Amino acid sequence: MQIIKVFGKASQTARHFEVTASEEKENLLQWLRHKGVTMASSCDGKGVCRKCVIQQDLTTCEMTVRSFLDLFPDGIIFVDYL
Ligand code: FES
Repeated sequence: MQIIKVFGKASQTARHFEVTASEEKENLLQWLRHKGVTMASSCDGKGVCRKCVIQQDLTTCEMTVRSFLDLFPDGIIFVDYL
């Protein structure tokens, strides 16, 4: 089982979440919200507003949990405004 760690740069806090195999295909923005992470969005996940950005330039609404983990095997998400 994989772990994703969400690190809030503003608050300097981190939360850890387990990723089940069935969750890997979920949209990353929706998955984070289901876990209770307050992710910003004003375009409802259409890839326009860029408020859902992590790692400074990746939009969570345009990737799956699996595609994130393929790019970042350490599973660490950095969110500037959290
Ligand atoms: S929610 Fe608007 S770009 Fe991702």
